Amino acid sequence: LSRSLIAIRHLDPNTIRDLLELAQAFRSKIRNGELLPSHADKTVGLLFFENSTRTRVSFEQAAALLGCKISAFTSAGSSMTKGETLKDTIMTLSRERINCMVIRHKASGAPGFAQPYLQGPIVNAGDGQHEHPTQALGDALTILDRKGKIKGLRVAIVGDVLHSRVARSNAWLLDKLGAEVRLVGPRNLMPRYPGLLPGKVGNRLEEGIEGADVVMCLRLQNERMSEGAIGSVREFASSYQINEDSLRYAHPDCVVMHPGPINRGVEIDDATADGPRSMILDQVENSVFVRTAVLHYSFGGGSL
Ligand code: NCD
Repeated sequence: LSRSLIAIRHLDPNTIRDLLELAQAFRSKIRNGELLPSHADKTVGLLFFENSTRTRVSFEQAAALLGCKISAFTSAGSSMTKGETLKDTIMTLSRERINCMVIRHKASGAPGFAQPYLQGPIVNAGDGQHEHPTQALGDALTILDRKGKIKGLRVAIVGDVLHSRVARSNAWLLDKLGAEVRLVGPRNLMPRYPGLLPGKVGNRLEEGIEGADVVMCLRLQNERMSEGAIGSVREFASSYQINEDSLRYAHPDCVVMHPGPINRGVEIDDATADGPRSMILDQVENSVFVRTAVLHYSFGGGSL
């Protein structure tokens, strides 16, 4: 049995809950130094066609925890610089006995496109502005740790929603588990067809984060942005930065999240990023447990 994870959008809420439970079970075993299920017969291909620090390293750690062999692959050092297509690359690696592929790609839809060319599972590690399912699962686990539930929470996702796969995966996941999702940012950085995503759209920060239990900040994704989308970075920061001043509108116990990498002084200020509300490093830590759970699940593994 092999199961891919391409998008949160197509998962049913029970599968999401099972994955979160599995991640919690892995977390306690890992912290207690207990034996984990072994997938030592598997080789995981890490195909990162876009830059990454935390996602790549945490998948590496997750695969190692399960005893897998790892084959790391970056486009810069590969035959893709010689004109090889994604399809041919996947078919080649597949014959080299790679059992599972973790793919990050700048094109939305790349992991889904690759699926028919590999026998085994594909895990989406972020594709263009489509989805980043394991990020959303790690974020959900972090919210559960701090708030004890997801249902009924008000979650504001703030900033460059248009270009953010993190925003999309989180909006789907949080909506499926019963949270109230709000998407907040400048008009030009909001989805063109907001009705296709769950969540209320707003352009004023004070309204968008009013009473919010969770505020998720997003980086301005300049690499995907068309010229002139925002007036200036300074203007964006003055209207949308999450700091002690803007957080006055949120719930007094609100927590602040960010998928990273953060741009200090732009979407979030230093005091908030390093302050007691910040869950940024908890998100990083939880992503290792979530990715361990997802790889185990992708190989057909069940609960521990
Ligand atoms: C994000 C990504 O690459 O989608 N980072 C991450 O994986 N934690 C967000 C971003 O690049 O802004």
